[in-house]
Amino acid sequence: MASACASAEDALVFYTFGPDETKRLGARLGRCLNPDAVVALSGDLGTGKTCFARGVALGLGLPSSLHITSPSFSLVNEYEGGRIRLYHMDAYRLESLEAFFDAGLEEYFYEGGVAVLEWSDRWPQVLPAGSVRVLLVIEGLSEGGHRLRVEISNPPEGFTI
Ligand SMILES: Nc1ncnc2c1ncn2[C@@H]1O[C@H](COP(=O)(O)OP(=O)(O)O)[C@@H](O)[C@H]1O
Ligand SMILES: [Mg+2]
Repeated sequence: MASACASAEDALVFYTFGPDETKRLGARLGRCLNPDAVVALSGDLGTGKTCFARGVALGLGLPSSLHITSPSFSLVNEYEGGRIRLYHMDAYRLESLEAFFDAGLEEYFYEGGVAVLEWSDRWPQVLPAGSVRVLLVIEGLSEGGHRLRVEISNPPEGFTI
């Protein structure tokens, strides 16, 4: 199980010790999300954003057999069949805020699905006020992978430590 500690500056802080734990944490969050929820992921390359997004997909009831990859080139991938439709988005390859709007990405925040955005810290001003913010930081190594600090701010109702 991912360990959790007291909240810091209103964020819930968790530590995971491998990808499975990160996925489980994402799934816990996913189970609490409602239509139009936005999950804003930030953290360096390879920290576990896509891994966390896979967990959210599981929490929304999508099958574990589903192959979810970073939508770095497609910008957004849609998954139907869960409790709520999932839009998995990635701002990594976008060159400007204009490109974000040109691609129509902000519309996915209000389509009645759950939007999970990787590299959301690029243009935080595009995020709806109610967005759940998830920051991932590698803090060392563990046997199962890396020791990951996961800070969750503005969690949905029902999601606690
Ligand atoms: N605690 C952990 N949480 C998530 N991923 C981890 C962890 N430890 C090791 N990993 C590995 O780190 C990589 C994270 O990749 P990914 O989720 O694609 O990162 P990002 O989307 O942030 O670039 C995966 O290869 C995963 O197996
Ligand atoms: Mg990724």
